[in-house]
Amino acid sequence: ASTLAAAAQQSGRYFGTAIAAGRLGDQTYTTIANREFDMITAENEMKIDATEPNRGQFNFSAGDRVYNWAVQNGKRVRGHTLAWHSQQPGWMQALSGGDLRQAMINHINGVMSHYRGKIYAWDVVNEAYADGNSGGRRDSNLQRTGNDWIEVAFRTARAADPSAKLCYNDYNIDNWNWAKTQGVYNMVRDFKQRGVPIDCVGLQSHFNSNSPYNSNYRTTIQSFAALGVDVQITELDIQGGSATTYANVVNDCLAVPRCTGITVWGVRDSDSWLGAGASPLLFDGNGNKKAAYNSVLNALNNA
Ligand code: G3I
Repeated sequence: ASTLAAAAQQSGRYFGTAIAAGRLGDQTYTTIANREFDMITAENEMKIDATEPNRGQFNFSAGDRVYNWAVQNGKRVRGHTLAWHSQQPGWMQALSGGDLRQAMINHINGVMSHYRGKIYAWDVVNEAYADGNSGGRRDSNLQRTGNDWIEVAFRTARAADPSAKLCYNDYNIDNWNWAKTQGVYNMVRDFKQRGVPIDCVGLQSHFNSNSPYNSNYRTTIQSFAALGVDVQITELDIQGGSATTYANVVNDCLAVPRCTGITVWGVRDSDSWLGAGASPLLFDGNGNKKAAYNSVLNALNNA
């Protein structure tokens, strides 16, 4: 196959990208995105600050621009994200306790009912675990509402849209030896044991010199999958853009049947949140395929 999406489809997987609504007028951008990718994540437009700028007043205009572009071009959509300590609107940052808990529930219900039946998978909860060696939860206003906030979010989400896969999504849970990975693993195992609805784990997979790709990544993917959840690589970028590392990541996903797809976090280097200098993506600033692109395509075709 000659595109990433078509190559991934050969093994029943998808290959996605993050899309920014503000770039949909750029024809180079949309041409590449439409040709190469079959799963779309809104880079910012479905986040809490974008979708509920005022309490109880939902705004889906930017989210719908990304959603409609994707569906009009025959692509599926991952929803990102419903409960997160970051990119909360000011009104939510000011809440605590039971009031914040109820606002979280209302937010999940409001956004998921707008997109009900239309989303492949939702990142229900994003980045709830702490960096470093604790293996525990990150301190946040949501965490301070009580340790059960994550399972409440997932139970709310299941009722709001039973057709969407429900994911827990985080960064630095790629390395099997890291405490943060083990913390999330233990939560997912506990959820599966107690019947808390969870269908997938999103490994963001932002690789850089502080959190480099490690060959135990395949063990991480296999271990989560063995708990009975799908694994998705949700925000892949690799600082420096190593073609070898890109191939390793793809091959590790392909080795695990329940690794259902890969999303890169942007189209061209110039679209990346890291800046073009990091050279983290598959297309250069002019829209040319990089060595990493060919490496990914070959890995997908050799599956
Ligand atoms: O839209 C405003 C614009 O009006 C304003 O003029 C401009 C001035 O700074 O800011 C614009 O908003 C920025 C937004 O991106 C859109 O470009 C925000 O400041 C900026 O903080 C925001 O950054 C996003 C970041 O999440 C915020 O947390 C990145 O684009 C986005 O790639 C990044 O994505 C996250 C995932 O959601 C979760 N995992 C990590 C990943 C990378 O940080």
